[in-house]
Amino acid sequence: MSAISFREQSARLLLFSAIVAMISASCTSVNTETTLKDAYADSFMIGCAVNPLHTGGHLEQATDLILEHFNAISPENCLKPEAVQPRPGVWTFDDADEFVKFGEEHDLWMLGHTLVWHNQTPSFYWEKPDGTPKTREELIETMRAHIKTVAGRYAGRIDAWDVVNEIIGEFGEYRNKGWVKAFGGDGYEVVRNAFIFADRYAPDAELYYNDFNVWRPAHVDGIVTMVRKLQKEGIRIDGVGIQAHWGLNYPKTEYIEHAIDTLHSLGVKVMITELDVDVLPITREGQVIGQSLTDPLYQHEEFEEYLDPYKDGLPTEVEEQLADRYEELFRIFYNRRDKIDRVTLWGLTDDSSWKNGYPVPGRTNYPLLWNRDYTPHKALQSVLEVPVK
Ligand code: GLA
Repeated sequence: MSAISFREQSARLLLFSAIVAMISASCTSVNTETTLKDAYADSFMIGCAVNPLHTGGHLEQATDLILEHFNAISPENCLKPEAVQPRPGVWTFDDADEFVKFGEEHDLWMLGHTLVWHNQTPSFYWEKPDGTPKTREELIETMRAHIKTVAGRYAGRIDAWDVVNEIIGEFGEYRNKGWVKAFGGDGYEVVRNAFIFADRYAPDAELYYNDFNVWRPAHVDGIVTMVRKLQKEGIRIDGVGIQAHWGLNYPKTEYIEHAIDTLHSLGVKVMITELDVDVLPITREGQVIGQSLTDPLYQHEEFEEYLDPYKDGLPTEVEEQLADRYEELFRIFYNRRDKIDRVTLWGLTDDSSWKNGYPVPGRTNYPLLWNRDYTPHKALQSVLEVPVK
């Protein structure tokens, strides 16, 4: 073998360096040490919904992950009416107190969720002990007392409240359920009273309206009408939360963009408040609500293979689809970062998601950024890369 001359060696080295430079230019340099809250530090807060296992220190690994990646927390259930007042006059604040203590100890931004809602609210909120409906005056007093007791308890500590949850329906109408049904009328009075009381008892907290399917244009229009009415009356509303319980195949980008732009144009904060991406059949195509898929019929053996196909793990191709979908969504959010205040995931690891139990109980879903064993989905990397790509 003949010896290579110094000139030839230098030429080869130059060529090699050029090739390396070209390859690295075509790849994105990703800092694998980056965390979600750091990657989006200049864009919006990054939150996750937590449960008492997280805040009570029972799952150390989960707590570490929360503190590493998130700067905001939402309580999944512990501040809902059925959790704080399960029976008339019986108030249970242990989990909620622990949530607030956890947030304060770790300097996390905290949401209170939620004061006025038709779900997870016992019927005694609207009915007298004998089962007859409460009068209008009794309903207003019930709402006032609830908001005073709950929002007032954490005044100056919880940063913002979802004052009203899910009161507008698919076509922009007020859902005729819970408070709305009890009050009668068009539903606006429920919203009006709720925001007035929240402002009275939590004057330092921001006050939000929060809802799902806030991408359907008619639904967005209904929210716009409601917010404008509050604003016209001088009643404080500081933001609107887009829940974002979405799927691999819905909603379309233009709907999401339209919702963010329209709500932002009202002069209120816009937040993505309960993000998850459903990968399972049917519910990855659209949000199924109401009774249909909850029917025990669908838990029969013959439907299982179709409805719950990933019990033993997520196939690589679906893992890729999940990563692409998360990337697509975070790109929408990042491109509109001047209009978005916070993006919150509804849970931490896949096993903590409500999507395993709804609408079909007992399925194995993969809607979040971490697997059941705390390993990240490929989607985490995709989300981390969005701001540097
Ligand atoms: C709605 C509520 C949340 C939660 C989810 C399901 O989005 O706002 O509190 O109940 O449904 O977990």
